[in-house]
Amino acid sequence: MKLEDIKKIAVMGAGDMGHGIAEVALLAGYRVALRDVEQRFVDNGLQRIGERLARLARKKRITEEDRKAMMGKLQSFVDLEDAVNDADFIIEAAPEIMDVKKAVFQEVDKSAPEHAVLASNTSNMSITEMASVTRRPEKVVGMHFFNPAAVMKLVEVIKGDQTSEETMQLTHDLAAKMNKVPVRVEKDSVGFIYNRIGAPSLILLGALVDRGIAAPEEIDARMKILGMAMGPYELLDYVGLDIVYHSLIYVAERLSSEYAPPKWLREKIEAGDLGKKTGKGIYDWSRGRPAIDLARAKEDFDATDLIAIQVNEATKLLEEGVVKSPDDIDKAMIHGGRAAFGPFQLARGIGYDKLAARCEELAREYGVAAFKPTETLKKGNI
Ligand code: 3HC
Repeated sequence: MKLEDIKKIAVMGAGDMGHGIAEVALLAGYRVALRDVEQRFVDNGLQRIGERLARLARKKRITEEDRKAMMGKLQSFVDLEDAVNDADFIIEAAPEIMDVKKAVFQEVDKSAPEHAVLASNTSNMSITEMASVTRRPEKVVGMHFFNPAAVMKLVEVIKGDQTSEETMQLTHDLAAKMNKVPVRVEKDSVGFIYNRIGAPSLILLGALVDRGIAAPEEIDARMKILGMAMGPYELLDYVGLDIVYHSLIYVAERLSSEYAPPKWLREKIEAGDLGKKTGKGIYDWSRGRPAIDLARAKEDFDATDLIAIQVNEATKLLEEGVVKSPDDIDKAMIHGGRAAFGPFQLARGIGYDKLAARCEELAREYGVAAFKPTETLKKGNI
């Protein structure tokens, strides 16, 4: 299939990510089928897309005619077969639970046309494993958007063990047509680029709170003063604590038990406080974005700690052949999080020797092997 043969995109899941991906596909001119398991989820997604497009029309980013045409190209479904039976490209955005994803892939594979590509928006999980339940593993690929999908530019295009080059190229071109910055992930590896590099930070953010070293607001205030669009804990609330929790369990099973969710996060999940989506998480979101008190910034928290463990993790991706070049990693991290610089750009400024030494100290201080500097980091000069 060629890019111009894609006319209709079906999105499985109308939640935060699904509705955002559907909006992006509409803006790129596609017919879109939005599907979720219950009518109320579908309705919620439709309403959010309607509001977003109306806002874009109000701001004259699109014309009123465009808005109407786009709404006319949007169909919604609860029945999966109806949603995918004439779709050319299907993007799964179901909850981050492997069994749920596999069930969706199996059903989609049965009902979608033979030529259709099946993509997953998974944050961390194995594309190869999802492909294994289909009869078309060469047409199964990762297409990982970032939250909010309408704003964040990065799309990771992930190769499963059997994904064909044609499928990779097509997905890459589709992401570019959707006005995104696609980055190829050459190996199906836990967390791909962005979330893998962020994973050790979650161990640190977990330990800071569990050990009573800092409160989330103190770190968030510090990081916002240093220029982050959102504090790191605020961002967890924003993407959904349930997603973070399930992801950590998955990463812990596959990489190391050091990634197991921290105690405070388990408590939030048990209480049903999932972040922005439930109105309460680490922060209160009932009246919109939390107002973080910058005066509470923890002055002695050194942001270099987060940079050190991220650069270190990035070197593991190079060692494992997950990406082709450090430039691809920088590109992904800049566009996935709207950062000014990528990890290797920062490392060249700070000095690899300094970062390696700090990783050594952090590994000792926290007793975390994942923080230990790699040989590549120690050698530097990347
Ligand atoms: N959908 C579409 N557009 C949105 C949006 C949404 N959900 N939320 C915000 N926007 C748009 C707004 O319309 C506004 O655009 P405009 O004024 O030009 O129309 C623009 O984004 C800025 O929004 P706001 O003024 O409301 O607020 P902020 O300036 O605070 O921006 C933010 C909000 C874009 C969310 C910003 O805080 C941000 O970039 N945060 C970091 C997000 C991030 O790092 N995401 C990656 C998460 S990791 C991930 O997704 C991986 C996954 O696997 C878990």
